Amino acid sequence: MESIGIGVIGCGGMGRSLANGAHAVEGIDVICVSDLQEELAKTLAENLNTNYTTNYYELLDNEKIQAVLIASPPFLHAQMAIDATNAGKHVFSEKPMAPSLEECDSMIDAAEKNNVYLTIGLVCRYHATHSKVREIVQSGELGNPVNMMVQRIGGPWGGGNRVPWRLEREKSGGSLMEINAHEIDFMRWTCGDVEKVYGVGGRYVHDHTNYPDLVLASLNFKNGAVGLLHSSHVAAIGGYGGRVDCEKGTIYFPQTWGGDASIQIKPFDGEGRSIKISDIEVPPPVQQEIRVFVNSVRNKTTPPITGADGRAAVEIALAAYQSVETGQPVSLPL
Ligand SMILES: NC(=O)c1ccc[n+]([C@@H]2O[C@H](COP(=O)([O-])OP(=O)(O)OC[C@H]3O[C@@H](n4cnc5c(N)ncnc54)[C@H](O)[C@@H]3O)[C@@H](O)[C@H]2O)c1
Repeated sequence: MESIGIGVIGCGGMGRSLANGAHAVEGIDVICVSDLQEELAKTLAENLNTNYTTNYYELLDNEKIQAVLIASPPFLHAQMAIDATNAGKHVFSEKPMAPSLEECDSMIDAAEKNNVYLTIGLVCRYHATHSKVREIVQSGELGNPVNMMVQRIGGPWGGGNRVPWRLEREKSGGSLMEINAHEIDFMRWTCGDVEKVYGVGGRYVHDHTNYPDLVLASLNFKNGAVGLLHSSHVAAIGGYGGRVDCEKGTIYFPQTWGGDASIQIKPFDGEGRSIKISDIEVPPPVQQEIRVFVNSVRNKTTPPITGADGRAAVEIALAAYQSVETGQPVSLPL
């Protein structure tokens, strides 16, 4: 198998996860990692027995590197992705793709112009619950989906998340992008494209940020189905779960990871069944998203998660913010 050389930009929490994930995948050489904070880059490089730089342009100049994994704060994704594509590197950018549609478009254009692949780290597509729920819906056994509800809710952020870039919507995209890019993508991946968004909410307890900490976003899918995303930092009893109601029955997932919850599948007619989430075998998701991306590079095939997918999640989040601000439903495209 041809080995693919990888560079990692950003060695914070997610950059370390990606670099370790890449290191564990067969047929990948992590050639160099980069962070402005030298200690972070150096420590990670030592752990992986590789090189580091504090200047990511040096990493982009390295001919052994064919693809980069970008794990910087969201407001830096576009510039780094454009620089990488101009250097001829394939790009994996963490979610959210970028805080604005203009930046998303510039990333897509740059990848096309330079004839390289671009993918976005919407890793939940490789998680057990998300992928199983979607698989059951797509199998058609319960007919078409008509309603999908997902809640990802919890209490106010503790200190660890209060890095400066996370506090500004312009830099992070706010919770609807920085956290819920995953749930928005999950809903769109399961039920299809969205044509209208109506959001209510506001900033109730997160005084240290400049974006809503509670949003109820209702989605109208193009196929006629409806959906509701409940995004909240105002829930002392938190949780992450949901349901898909289809024409012939329901898929209920009270929990998406951890614990011993089951996905319950109940048709209107006949017996139901349940699948214990811990019994669903999937490869470690971060390793798998990198493996799939690198296989695309190796086999010269478009990655399954495209720039258009990353952009769509950003667009839906922007529409929800706009709707919360104006009190009006927002039709897509923006
Ligand atoms: N997929 C997931 O589940 C998941 C989880 C957490 C974070 N993320 C995403 O990963 C990205 C990074 O998040 P994080 O939690 O690791 O943030 P972080 O703040 O821990 O790390 C970001 C790093 O980027 C570095 N950086 C900034 N400018 C740079 C530059 N010019 N060159 C090199 N490095 C630079 C910073 O020094 C910092 O170490 C965000 O987009 C976030 O949304 C994804």
